[in-house]
Amino acid sequence: MTEAPRKKTLLDIQRMKAQGEKITVLTAYDYPFARIMDSAGIDMILVGDSLGSVVAGYDTTLPVTMDEMLYHSRAVVRGVASALVISDMPFLSYQVDLSDAKRNAGRLIKEGGAQAVKLEGGENIAPTIRAIVEMDIPVVGHIGLTPQSIHRMGGYRVQGRQEEQARQLLADAKAVEAAGAFAVVLEGIPAALAREITAALTIPTIGIGAGVDCDGQVLVIHDILGLCEKYSPKFVKRFADVSGTIRQGIDDYIVDVKQGSFPGDEHSF
Ligand code: KIV
Repeated sequence: MTEAPRKKTLLDIQRMKAQGEKITVLTAYDYPFARIMDSAGIDMILVGDSLGSVVAGYDTTLPVTMDEMLYHSRAVVRGVASALVISDMPFLSYQVDLSDAKRNAGRLIKEGGAQAVKLEGGENIAPTIRAIVEMDIPVVGHIGLTPQSIHRMGGYRVQGRQEEQARQLLADAKAVEAAGAFAVVLEGIPAALAREITAALTIPTIGIGAGVDCDGQVLVIHDILGLCEKYSPKFVKRFADVSGTIRQGIDDYIVDVKQGSFPGDEHSF
């Protein structure tokens, strides 16, 4: 009899940093993708609010709601046996007041089935991270290019290029760690700054557009599989052309139906 895979916890993730083992993270938004990446041995799965862009077709992540995050979290969790599942807290679910933030974080765990939540922000959001951690909910921080702040940043721009900004990002990373986050995403920052932050923290850094020296890497699944042609950021490596495969399958289906060669006898009763 084969043993069921053991569910990863935040202790496994923290141990990986201590042992210098790279941490792999991908986003997922539904059951089939979650199953495939879990069986491939991914360490953590992020139900990202990027679903607003790659699943729902919005230009930003700002319209994503708690109900949408809960729906997608439940679908992902049903497909996962081993990976640690993190759910994103969507815009306005944690910025307004602490009791909102605590209740919404709790809902992602209780109703969504996630093991951890992720919030964007540094020093400004540290008290919120602390309040959620005090409820025994594991938190992942997210600093640098934070998509929910697109209007403040004036677009999806690399952050921390100027010295003052870089100093602030280091302070943000330390504040997130001090508030009790067990890991932090570093998005869209220079590789040298990510290296410095990674060396300064005891919690793992998970990079996206932050160079190779982070403790782990995260990417959006639709980006690495070539499923979303709308954006192609420099930091994305395309590992497959799934759009091409899907298109070919659909083209073949249309031809078969038009020609009357599908369904055949073997598909009929
Ligand atoms: O929403 C998301 O997918 C994210 C990652 C890309 C870090 O926040």
